[in-house]
Amino acid sequence: MGAFDGKIVIVTGGAKGIGAGISRAFAGEGARVAALDVDAEAGALIAAEGEGLAGEIHYFNADVSQDEVCRDTVGQIVGDLGGVDVLCNNVGIQPVSSYLPAHELPVEMWDRIIGVNLKSHFLMARYCLPGMMERRAGVIINTASVQGVQSALGVSAYAASKGGILSLTRQLALEYAKYGIRVLAVNPGGIDTPLVDELVEALGQDRKEFEEGYAKIHPLRRYGQPVDIANAVLFLASDKASFMTGENVSVDGGLLAKGAWADLEA
Ligand SMILES: NC(=O)c1ccc[n+]([C@@H]2O[C@H](COP(=O)([O-])OP(=O)(O)OC[C@H]3O[C@@H](n4cnc5c(N)ncnc54)[C@H](O)[C@@H]3O)[C@@H](O)[C@H]2O)c1
Repeated sequence: MGAFDGKIVIVTGGAKGIGAGISRAFAGEGARVAALDVDAEAGALIAAEGEGLAGEIHYFNADVSQDEVCRDTVGQIVGDLGGVDVLCNNVGIQPVSSYLPAHELPVEMWDRIIGVNLKSHFLMARYCLPGMMERRAGVIINTASVQGVQSALGVSAYAASKGGILSLTRQLALEYAKYGIRVLAVNPGGIDTPLVDELVEALGQDRKEFEEGYAKIHPLRRYGQPVDIANAVLFLASDKASFMTGENVSVDGGLLAKGAWADLEA
């Protein structure tokens, strides 16, 4: 028997990278997962993976930065699968072309990053919460970042979006605790995903060299994997974490413990 047998779990950005890891892990524990993403090809692959697992993975093509899309998709999931038990607001983008000092960042890029990374978390919560309030149960897990806590150069919109997620997490936790709804966040460190592939390609670096360098800045001396984040998310969503809310948990190989993580080797 799986720890999430029959539970309905939404994962935004659920077709690739960390989101795919979360989708897979919940389905492995018997959940019925709705993976929301804009990449239909990756969506078909993650849905097919679900067929070999204890639960199910259903792909929904949805740009979660859009209000109506979130409203309609949550409505469809509730209609097709039932009420939402767990919402994983995982989606996030950090386009390589956005690595710029703030005064050079195009306003459209600011809007896009804030729209996908932060507004989507609010929108999805907005449409899932009424059902959770009625059932007086539910968990929301937001994917923030170590960059929401400390920052690096050239990431004004991304860092602001992640700081916003941490603040939104605390705010929602307070507002909905009386309904038995818990809201938490995870801060990944460097995790091996397509988001990082894009960066390596743009830097023109050798993948192996990049990985070795990246591993070194993490005190645990390795690159994180999507399953590392998924394991933490599953714990936070489970009854074992029933006295936790409004908190954020770093899953970062010790990066934040040492401070000044962007520049220093441990
Ligand atoms: N990889 C890391 O090192 C790292 C570190 C810290 C935080 N994070 C955070 O973890 C989360 C997942 O990152 P990742 O590395 O897996 O990224 P990724 O780019 O590998 O995957 C993101 C997924 O989101 C989807 N997506 C993009 N825009 C969307 C939209 N508008 N609507 C729906 N889906 C959309 C993409 O198609 C993709 O499947 C993000 O919030 C990211 O900021 C990642």
